[in-house]
Amino acid sequence: MQYKISDKMVNMKPSAIREIFKSLGTPGAISFAAGNPAPESFPVKDLAAISADIFENRPSQALQYSVTEGYPRLREQVKARIREKFNIGTPEDETIIVTGGQQGIELTCKVLCNEGDVVIAENPSFIGALNSFRSLGAKIVGVDVEDGGMNIEALEKALQENPNAKLLYVIPTFQNPGGFTTSLEKRKAIYALARKYAVVILEDNPYGELRFRGEDLPTLKSMDTDGRVVYCGSFSKVLSAGMRVGFLCGNEALIQKIVVAKQVEDVHTNIFFQMLCSEYMDRCDMDAHVEEIRALYRAKCDKMLECLDREMPEEVKYTRPEGGLFLWCTLPEKIDSGAFVKKAVEKNVFVVPGTAFNCDETKGSPSFRLNYSMPSMEEIEKGIKILADLVKEMLA
Ligand SMILES: Cc1ncc(COP(=O)(O)O)c(C=O)c1O
Repeated sequence: MQYKISDKMVNMKPSAIREIFKSLGTPGAISFAAGNPAPESFPVKDLAAISADIFENRPSQALQYSVTEGYPRLREQVKARIREKFNIGTPEDETIIVTGGQQGIELTCKVLCNEGDVVIAENPSFIGALNSFRSLGAKIVGVDVEDGGMNIEALEKALQENPNAKLLYVIPTFQNPGGFTTSLEKRKAIYALARKYAVVILEDNPYGELRFRGEDLPTLKSMDTDGRVVYCGSFSKVLSAGMRVGFLCGNEALIQKIVVAKQVEDVHTNIFFQMLCSEYMDRCDMDAHVEEIRALYRAKCDKMLECLDREMPEEVKYTRPEGGLFLWCTLPEKIDSGAFVKKAVEKNVFVVPGTAFNCDETKGSPSFRLNYSMPSMEEIEKGIKILADLVKEMLA
């Protein structure tokens, strides 16, 4: 049968990253393409013991329908944690559990944007968020990211030129894909501009706890005095991505609407995994666990930087992240980045081309994203050498 796909979905492409995953089966493939947490970071034994206990002692609660806002104990724990770690939460705020940060992003856009409204985002930005905005019929206007975050003049211009901008989507800390962190000065400027032009900020912070160098900076939500910021967080990168447990904190009035929208989507987030997450935090030392993940990623990031510093010609530029999962490599103009990524695939090394993260899908990009959480130290050593040799070959 010939299907008539809806206007909303007809031009949507599959995520370039999920597509790359499909080509990864070949023996000896080295992937720097994933955005996954390291499998060795999952506290498997603790989670297995707690799971057994939940099914033994509270099976009907774990298997029954639950409330849309989330498992009450987990909501309390999240509230306490984001207050302690990020100074977030006022008496006017409400915190709910969502099915991964991905759903939190989509729901926020859904309740604020009509079709044709504008979402302003960092360029490049997280592909999952961009695709949700697209799927909801929002128009994305990208503001280029430079050292220390969005170009503030370009942001003001975008806000002036788009009076129907409803949402400003930012990942201020260890951004995906770039690994950039927005400076304090720019954070203040972004908040002030959002106020001046009356837009809501969606602050996406799934990597905030994964700092392995430098000092924490205040979240935008902690600067929020008028309910302008919706804060989105997740357990994906600190506990388990497959659990699909994330959270939103924002002004009560807005969160109430989001709850209605969530009811339509999935009734509630998987209750067993909410209970597992909550029990883990009650019984185990979450801070010590996060500290171990930070140490692991510090070592992997350092290894990747050491290999890049040693192997890459100096014309190649890359970020030096202070946390998170990614670094961003920019090739010299002489090299066609699309051809580079394809040739890397032929050599069995996978990276994600920068074009995948463009707000404007028609534009090119001289960059590509490298992930260091998934590959082993040996793979980092070997894979970066292959990429560097390819750059040299293409420059010659
Ligand atoms: C910036 C950013 N936001 C949100 C998410 C979504 O995470 P999840 O839905 O697993 O919580 C990701 C996942 O990679 C991300 O990189």
